Amino acid sequence: MEKIQFNLKDYIKFVTEEIDNNIYRPVRGNSYLEVLKALHEYLKPNTYLEIGVAGGGSLALADAERIIGVDPAPNLAENERYKIYPKTSDLFFEEDAPQLFAQQKIDLAFIDGMHLFEFALRDFINIERYSHKEGYIAIHDILPRTFSEASRGRMTVNWTGDVWRLIITLRKYRPDLNIIVLDSAPTGLAVVTNLNPDSNFLRENFEDIFKEIMEVKTMSFLEARDLVMHTFSTQLYLMNLVMKDMS
Ligand SMILES: C[S@@+](CC[C@H](N)C(=O)[O-])C[C@H]1O[C@@H](n2cnc3c(N)ncnc32)[C@H](O)[C@@H]1O
Repeated sequence: MEKIQFNLKDYIKFVTEEIDNNIYRPVRGNSYLEVLKALHEYLKPNTYLEIGVAGGGSLALADAERIIGVDPAPNLAENERYKIYPKTSDLFFEEDAPQLFAQQKIDLAFIDGMHLFEFALRDFINIERYSHKEGYIAIHDILPRTFSEASRGRMTVNWTGDVWRLIITLRKYRPDLNIIVLDSAPTGLAVVTNLNPDSNFLRENFEDIFKEIMEVKTMSFLEARDLVMHTFSTQLYLMNLVMKDMS
């Protein structure tokens, strides 16, 4: 008789697919790259900071006076347009940011580095500290479509991890911020304004906030994703930006 071999990897894949099939929530708005492009055109930032540049797809949209990218494994060569820091964002904020942003603050930033809640939260805290009050912070990957995509252990090509926890945190503990969650394909984009570089609440309460927000279960979040996130149409947002730019 043929012996059936149990393969843990296949089993996990099978179970994950089964779970995902029941809760697949697509994100159908215009691409996040269109929003970034429009923000560059509308804001015309002097200083643009991108955390997580990979091959430079999103960085290529920037036309700022100072374009700064941070990535421990960048897949693009530095040129006269970009300054790339080949290190983690935590190290960058410790070693380089104080001097880099002492005079000229950040006008526009894009968080797209390590897709785990605590990393994204630290990126947000550090970026806000060095931003103008009128600055913009865009956060990628806040709308996972499946359970496996939202998992803290990477299993998928398009991986959002649990960056969505950052939005829940900001909504709860920073009601002073203006947060728009866009249904930008493929996995959502949040645009945060009304920044307060002097706010220390998140930094000072980091450990307690982390513990509390980690209690939110991924599956329950996914089931209520669109309700929890108050998602806004990317198409309407783009139309508004274009109209503001013309006024
Ligand atoms: C999804 S890719 C970025 C894609 C790019 N922003 C785009 O849209 O074309 C994520 C990148 O984050 C980088 N990364 C991982 N951990 C990081 C960290 N701690 N700090 C900064 N970047 C990190 C990875 O090396 C990877 O290149």
